[in-house]
Amino acid sequence: MFDMEEVLHPFYKCLGIKKGKLLDLGCGAGEPFARFFIDRGWKVTGVDFSKGMLELASTYVPEMETIQADMCEVEFESNQFEAITVIYSLFHVSSKEHATLFDKFYRWLRPKGKALFTYATKEYTGSDEFDGYKEFMKQKLYYSHKSPDKLYADLENIGFNIESTDYRNIGNEIFLWVTVSKPVTE
Ligand SMILES: C[S@@+](CC[C@H](N)C(=O)[O-])C[C@H]1O[C@@H](n2cnc3c(N)ncnc32)[C@H](O)[C@@H]1O
Repeated sequence: MFDMEEVLHPFYKCLGIKKGKLLDLGCGAGEPFARFFIDRGWKVTGVDFSKGMLELASTYVPEMETIQADMCEVEFESNQFEAITVIYSLFHVSSKEHATLFDKFYRWLRPKGKALFTYATKEYTGSDEFDGYKEFMKQKLYYSHKSPDKLYADLENIGFNIESTDYRNIGNEIFLWVTVSKPVTE
């Protein structure tokens, strides 16, 4: 597992609250994000379509509520979560679905709530926009992304404030880490 301290702490700090509800989409085994928030008294709901990953999560992070589902298919009530994380998983979903998903994140977050997600860019796939398969650890995996400009336009059209966009090299892989917040204007 990669050392995620440089991402976890700034995101936790920028939330500006001690406790709340986190939705972790593509949660995998629940480490390190769900574990980090649960250890600080947060309630975490993890969504992943892999039964095997959720079985691991039940060992590593038994306190996490888990839902086995495609993140594009799940539904939650509005204004439910103080935070949403989508770590190393959104780029496995077709970029055609991203704006619809961001729209849902906006609805599910409480005002002032924040979402953090990892976005693939040409630094990872070699193309401004990508939709296809790449080898990762000897496995062919599906990746999809738009250009950062199109991504930012989608987020702003929905109403998000873009708080930070950082290219980070973690474990020798460069991804764009994006934090957005839902304004208090409703
Ligand atoms: C690279 S792992 C990352 C897991 C975890 N977020 C982490 O940071 O370690 C990607 C995870 O996303 C899940 N995933 C990919 N596409 C998904 C989808 N459409 N719906 C739900 N889970 C998905 C996979 O099953 C896998 O557990």
